[in-house]
Amino acid sequence: MQLAATIAERIRGVTGIPRTALHEPALNGNELAYVTECIQTGWVSSVGSFVDRFERDLADYVGARYAVVVSNGTSGLQVALMLAGVTAGDEVLVPTLSFVATANAVSHCGAHPHFVDSSYATLGLDVDALDAYLRETARVSDGVCVNRRTGRRIAAVVPMHTFGHPVDMPALVELAQRYAIEIVEDAAESLGSYIADRHTGGFGRCAMLSFNGNKVVTTGGGGAIITDDTELAKRAKHLTTTAKLPHAWEYSHDEVAFNYRMPNLNAALGCAQLERLDAFLAAKRELANRYQQAFADLPQVELFTERAGTRANYWLQTLLLKPGHVDERDAVLRATNDAGQMTRPVWKLLHTLPMYAHCEAMPTPVAADLARRIINIPSGPQLVAGAL
Ligand SMILES: Cc1ncc(COP(=O)(O)O)c(C=O)c1O
Repeated sequence: MQLAATIAERIRGVTGIPRTALHEPALNGNELAYVTECIQTGWVSSVGSFVDRFERDLADYVGARYAVVVSNGTSGLQVALMLAGVTAGDEVLVPTLSFVATANAVSHCGAHPHFVDSSYATLGLDVDALDAYLRETARVSDGVCVNRRTGRRIAAVVPMHTFGHPVDMPALVELAQRYAIEIVEDAAESLGSYIADRHTGGFGRCAMLSFNGNKVVTTGGGGAIITDDTELAKRAKHLTTTAKLPHAWEYSHDEVAFNYRMPNLNAALGCAQLERLDAFLAAKRELANRYQQAFADLPQVELFTERAGTRANYWLQTLLLKPGHVDERDAVLRATNDAGQMTRPVWKLLHTLPMYAHCEAMPTPVAADLARRIINIPSGPQLVAGAL
């Protein structure tokens, strides 16, 4: 049998159902009850008890002092970058292998994404390669990191934990200190992923989570900024609520800011989803085991699994075509989608997109290779029958 047909058949064997999306939300806990409560009480908009509860529950879950929930991950990352001091004209180091929002959030600050290569070990940015590149490209003077070529400040780096697999954060923290660069984690995909016992998103000044419909936990659309810093948390709330000064009736605002609040309706979904996060994670881990067994005797592919010392949430299960089989990727995508088993290639490298083609970028051979080899396969927790 052709490789593409074999892969389609093996995926169908694991999912056990004739049609499946890449990642469907599982909404059969308290979601309906909590959303109904919002409707019955009239608390459907941008303040309410579910917003407060979701912020507390989330902070507890990830081990941060504060969580500020927002309208989506992209707006959360924009504000997180602002909180870390990124201003117009700065450069921000971003993995070229990421969803477009990582770079868009930088652009929304008026800053310039500067693209970085990926690591085979983590699928996230390669800290050693970045170190070698910065040694040639950057200089630090008076506590400011400057790109020698452009003369612009390199203000921050945005590690993104691809499909829930953590970047080597201890090494990145050391590098960022040496180069006087702030870390703002794009933890959109990594709720429930850890390095040792530390949750992703806890390594920089602040981080962003996403609760888009396809994520481990969804609020329909939504995101959060997490931080341990009291002043940053207050500022995050202020900037995302139109910089409104507290007052019983007056509309007074002290700077140009955003309406990036998460409505209570969405936070109600989030509270119900968070109650089930551990069950989702267990199911996704079991799904990874099943895929690993299903593909164990196929030498042309491998399943990407968690690195020692980390715990991945297995947000999107990731099949890698081995070198020599890269040309079969589109046939695999066609065969699996035709068979009702939704699969997707990874994103196009960001520095190849028209709006980012002029940006600074280090050589990115690993990201280019991974982009040809990655295929995401059905990953929803409900694919493990009886687990939820
Ligand atoms: C890596 C990454 N960054 C940012 C985002 C943006 O999040 P949102 O869709 O909530 O704006 C997403 C997901 O959508 C993502 O996967």
